[in-house]
Amino acid sequence: MELPFAESWKIKMVEPIRKSTREEREQWLKEAHYNVFQLKADQVYIDCITDSGTGAMSDRQWAAVMMGDESYAGARSFFTLRDTITRITGFEFVVPTHQGRAAENVLFSHLVKAGDIVPGNSHFDTTKGHIESRKATALDCTVDEAKDTQLEVPFKGNVDVKKLEKALEEHADKIPFIIVTITNNTAGGQPVSMQNLRDVRRVADKYGKRVVFDSARFAENAYFIKTREEGYADRTIKEITLEMFALADAMTMSAKKDGIVNMGGFIATRWEDWYEGAKRFVIPFEGYLTYGGMNGRDMEALAVGLDENTEFDNLHTRIHQVQFLASLLDEYGIPYQRPAGGHAIFIDAGKILTNVPKEEFPAQTLTVELYREAGIRGCEIGYILADRDPVTRENRFGGLDLLRLAIPRRVYTDNHMRVIAVALKNVFDRRNEITRGVKIVWESELMRHFTVKLAPAAE
Ligand code: F0G
Repeated sequence: MELPFAESWKIKMVEPIRKSTREEREQWLKEAHYNVFQLKADQVYIDCITDSGTGAMSDRQWAAVMMGDESYAGARSFFTLRDTITRITGFEFVVPTHQGRAAENVLFSHLVKAGDIVPGNSHFDTTKGHIESRKATALDCTVDEAKDTQLEVPFKGNVDVKKLEKALEEHADKIPFIIVTITNNTAGGQPVSMQNLRDVRRVADKYGKRVVFDSARFAENAYFIKTREEGYADRTIKEITLEMFALADAMTMSAKKDGIVNMGGFIATRWEDWYEGAKRFVIPFEGYLTYGGMNGRDMEALAVGLDENTEFDNLHTRIHQVQFLASLLDEYGIPYQRPAGGHAIFIDAGKILTNVPKEEFPAQTLTVELYREAGIRGCEIGYILADRDPVTRENRFGGLDLLRLAIPRRVYTDNHMRVIAVALKNVFDRRNEITRGVKIVWESELMRHFTVKLAPAAE
């Protein structure tokens, strides 16, 4: 008999978590204005609000913490990190930053100016924010397949090369670079194929443009290339990673995801002119060139994390768990963005709470219901997150309305996945009785989802 799957690690340290009662949660929801960002983490039983900075470091990473060189300038830990990044990505120049959005801020300060257009595949909110705040446009060129949650295609995160080529034909002079997010978070943690990265490179070369990878989950992307794309089954994750980055000119990185550290990020590039440009901004915004907002100990832990998480077993354990949760949802018939992505399951709330009008925010309603049911915290990636149209001030109901359950790395067991699935099933079973959603009581102008105050629409 074939041995079953098991994790590629064992557990050395644990952190207690606490269940709560439905009455307690009802009270806490009221106090949090039905916005799960406003809950205290102690009020949460299983926390799937993000996979960012929430992973469990390994014993080797904790050991590396003790080796941190906290010198202001020229710290050994910087060179350890730089050499690791160069070995894994091929990029020679490295600028540390305190997290991913800081890397965007530094690099885009050098590259993006008013009137520019930056095409890419579903830019992440902060990426978009750093483009739009410079009065430039983030042009989404994601493949249309990503919009149909029930369509099962292997690389749903891809760039639509036709859309990209059209953008370049029409606006080449306004395009400072192309950005490809691997994996595509907003489309559901969906990967981008090597073929697609090659196609983007070909178009970029035709128009003499450079390509940046937003690389927060690059290792998970490499895992999907290995397991789904023809010709890569026998290649190592590190070989695939090098091949991916050979198709880019630079990367911005939120190390809080695939670096498996609690805080950190960087820019890496093969181009000295971009490095010189980034240097001008990292010093005033982040810190000196050899720490850029990171502690020496964090740079040590990140160097180890990058190495460990570009090994197949670690990634297989991680993605197997996300797929396990998906298989339970399949059993219960709960619709999500298919196939399961790398870091999260995106539940299609619009297909579940069909009695809740879109004006009452079905995905946010489902987020609240799941917390009410079992103390599980996901997050809405839907109509509230989409903010209002800057010109008409109308809510933007054009996109998908999803509940994201992000799975932290090496933190929860498959039993926790079972609890999540059953809690969702319980909500799913009473979906037809849920006829009212939530209404907005107070909101900020931009990125309202973090601070929005809501109330039951029926009140
Ligand atoms: N790019 C992508 C694709 C991301 O998912 C994130 C963060 C960032 C950039 C920004 O990095 O948080 O280190 O500043 N995503 C988190 C999430 C917050 O929950 O998906 P950061």
